[in-house]
Amino acid sequence: MQKQLEQTIQIARDEIRSATTLPDLANLKSKYLGKNSQITDFLKRLRELPQEERPAFGAIINEAKKEVEELIDLQEKSLVEKEYVRRQEASRLDLTLPGRRNDRGALHPLTQVWREIEDNFISLGFEIAEGFDVEDQFHNFDALNTPKDHPSRNLADTFFITESTLLRTQTSTVQVRTMEGFKPPIRIISPGRCYRNDKLDASHSPVFHQVEALVVDEGITFADLRDTLNQFAVKMFGPDIKSRFRPHFFPFTEPSAEIDISCVSCGGRGCRICKGSGWLEMGGAGMVDPNVFEILGIDPERYSGFAFGLGIDRIAMLKYNLPDIRLLFENDLRFLRQFK
Ligand code: PHE
Repeated sequence: MQKQLEQTIQIARDEIRSATTLPDLANLKSKYLGKNSQITDFLKRLRELPQEERPAFGAIINEAKKEVEELIDLQEKSLVEKEYVRRQEASRLDLTLPGRRNDRGALHPLTQVWREIEDNFISLGFEIAEGFDVEDQFHNFDALNTPKDHPSRNLADTFFITESTLLRTQTSTVQVRTMEGFKPPIRIISPGRCYRNDKLDASHSPVFHQVEALVVDEGITFADLRDTLNQFAVKMFGPDIKSRFRPHFFPFTEPSAEIDISCVSCGGRGCRICKGSGWLEMGGAGMVDPNVFEILGIDPERYSGFAFGLGIDRIAMLKYNLPDIRLLFENDLRFLRQFK
């Protein structure tokens, strides 16, 4: 019987060593170690031996079983390792292949300036408010104290969608929407797109961008307006920038002013950019007209406020020294790539 066992084990050794797949190995495992396997069979046949030989042969069978178990374990490890190496080889990078180029995108220069403006006003304590591109006469004109016969309501200036709806001509609409929805204290800015029936040229575009500001609280004065604009100009263009107000008229502010900043190119001495004047126009401003407060249900005896609107395209052109507003809207990659 011992001879038979030795033969069986010899065959098992050969078969296990030459197994090339894990399923094959699993079959061998049940063939030699399973319930009805050949080695178990020997254990069952112990009974045929004389009593005194049984313990010794039992030990030999167990020894054989252990050897087969170890062999299978070893072979299994080696097969797993081979499979791992095979997969590694299969997925190896070929470093001699030509590379695939990944072009990195960049934010549009207007978006960059837009975000910088937002950051600067946020650091001055403002919140961002949003409005709508499509508006109605009430929010774009009536609530802003604009007379029914005001020339800006003209078809020649405003893009109407229906008789009462239009593409907003100014972000001042967000002043109205904010005062409708919120009680003072109010301190918001609102950047956004505006539309006017203008001919496209180097300095005009029928689609353009403004940033509106509105502050309403008790005791707000013209000095607050001046100081806020000064601080913003310095944050945007540096410590040497100066600003000045020229008297002007807007239906929704009183008094009103146009805002200039000292020329970013010549510093005020006069050059081609500022057409010799030393100043550049940035937008309009003023103290909120009491009529607007009354229309929107805010007590003009208790509250006062200021508002201003600046041209974002204008700021971008000055910041990047652009000679033509159309560059900002044509999406010429040769232009845009310079802002990465
Ligand atoms: N909405 C005005 C314009 O587009 C600018 C402005 C805003 C003026 C706020 C005063 C106050 O010209």
